[in-house]
Amino acid sequence: MRFFPELMKLNDGTPVDTPQKMELRKKEILEIFQKYAYGDMPAPVPVTGKILEETGRCCSGTAVYYKIEITCDFGNGRHFSYPVQLIVPEKAGKKPLLLCVNFDDAIPHEYIPSEEVVDNAFALAVLYFKDVTNDDPDFTDKLAAFYPRTGSGHDPAKISLWAWSASRALDYLLTRDDIDEGHVGVIGHSRLGKTALWCAANDIRFRYVCSNDSGCMGAAYARSWVEGAESTASIAKVFPYWFCENFQAVANDPAAMPFDQHMLLAAIAPRYLLVNSASKDAWAGPASEQDACVGASPAWQVYERKTGYQGKSTYYDANEGNIKGELGYYKRYGVHFLGRKDWLNFMEFINNHY
Ligand code: GCU
Repeated sequence: MRFFPELMKLNDGTPVDTPQKMELRKKEILEIFQKYAYGDMPAPVPVTGKILEETGRCCSGTAVYYKIEITCDFGNGRHFSYPVQLIVPEKAGKKPLLLCVNFDDAIPHEYIPSEEVVDNAFALAVLYFKDVTNDDPDFTDKLAAFYPRTGSGHDPAKISLWAWSASRALDYLLTRDDIDEGHVGVIGHSRLGKTALWCAANDIRFRYVCSNDSGCMGAAYARSWVEGAESTASIAKVFPYWFCENFQAVANDPAAMPFDQHMLLAAIAPRYLLVNSASKDAWAGPASEQDACVGASPAWQVYERKTGYQGKSTYYDANEGNIKGELGYYKRYGVHFLGRKDWLNFMEFINNHY
């Protein structure tokens, strides 16, 4: 029997058996992940958005495409800007929005079936992560330059910076009158699935979140690591800059880590989280992702009428899962990829709870 850090107890040992106590627990959890995993989540700054391009020739003319420049104001004349692309279905009224942090600025892209999203009546915003800060150890480039390293051990690492930029994009998007501010989701794949989870854990305006094949330091338990999957020791060595310095001290010994990933998932309760895995994606540890859903579920159950994870505790086969509860899990057939089926699942999951 492995030892998992206790989810349903406050740091002082008090059992978490009410929504109020869960709210306190979530604060503690965010502090733990800031200190030992992703580094600090910077405070918001004022944001403006400027439309650079606009065209109605999008998705066969059923949607309007906007290219928007998001500008973050750091005071004293210091600004940082990055583009966000937005596609809004033509129909009148406010539309639910899915914000995707992606690996590319092209849309459509193999990971973004934009026409499918629009056909399902969702608006779609896309943020290209390298426009915010490069995927490398350089902490002097772009947004990273605004957060010089202090040596605290928990300076904002790259995952925090990408997550923060998604929240700032949302600051602007919510000022628009075509977006339904009560129905906004964030989705990301792989390293950007880790980013989507961390973003939603910190930003309750994201009512829905989908982590796709997010794996190690995403939705997968570190302690139920299996042969063939990525370990925390490996990720800390190969991608140290995704995490804060303190992570290096705990990553080699998961048993001693002050967290595991069921706690990150739980920080999203009682909102709506879909964990997507893929059957041929052993590196992301599908079984450990499903296990973490089981482990996180009690966080939902302290809230009235919330059930959390309604799926099985034995492992799903390909193209199986359960997306009925507020915490859904689905294992798609296929490889490490963010595909049409993953998006359709996310939209179906949202519609189950809309
Ligand atoms: C690597 C890394 C994973 C990550 C993935 C990706 O495989 O080890 O942790 O999720 O890249 O982002 O595609």
